[in-house]
Amino acid sequence: MLIAIPAVLTKDEVAQFRARLDGADWQDGAATAGAVARRQKRNLQLDDRAEPALSLGALVLAKVQAHPLFISAALPRKIFPPKFNRYEGGGTYGAHVDSALMRAPSGDFTVRSDLSATLFLSEPEEYDGGELEIEGAFGVQRVKLPAGDMVLYPSSSLHRVTPVTRGARIASFFWIESLVADEGARTLLFDLDQAVQGLTPAVGVEDADLLKLTHVYHNLLRRWART
Ligand code: NI
Repeated sequence: MLIAIPAVLTKDEVAQFRARLDGADWQDGAATAGAVARRQKRNLQLDDRAEPALSLGALVLAKVQAHPLFISAALPRKIFPPKFNRYEGGGTYGAHVDSALMRAPSGDFTVRSDLSATLFLSEPEEYDGGELEIEGAFGVQRVKLPAGDMVLYPSSSLHRVTPVTRGARIASFFWIESLVADEGARTLLFDLDQAVQGLTPAVGVEDADLLKLTHVYHNLLRRWART
């Protein structure tokens, strides 16, 4: 499932990110790709062991971990330190699958990529092309969100970024290992949680049936979560 998470960053925060990113020392992204992906990948990335990637990445982590929709959708166990990329002048990333296991730059831990995240830092009207195309059971979905919004999608999916033919597409991206590895189970939990949240204002937190649904949610989570 593909889930859009609105307003991970406010427009003011996006402007602060961009002030630090626009003049940053961008490097050839192919250097960090595997042998197969290298032929597909034409973009720029920041060195994720140096500033400003370190402090901006920490800010992204703090923002997503405080976002209830992200927590509900991802049920995060471990999050890869956010990275930053830039596509311009025809830059593109052809169809690929993200590696299953990602070693953090610090070498301290490995993340199994259950979910991939892209946080958009350019407004859609700033660039042409640069759609994130994700192949799923219902065909290809094209994603191009307002700056500050983020998309979550299964890391198992084939995906690509179409060539940027005008302007620059700047984004942060990272991977999440979920407490619930199985995508189908995680989607059921997300749907149930969102339904409970949606019903709560109408029926009130004391409602007996709402309590039963909450009870089912937690017992399913207990059954499926691996900490
Ligand atoms: Ni990818």
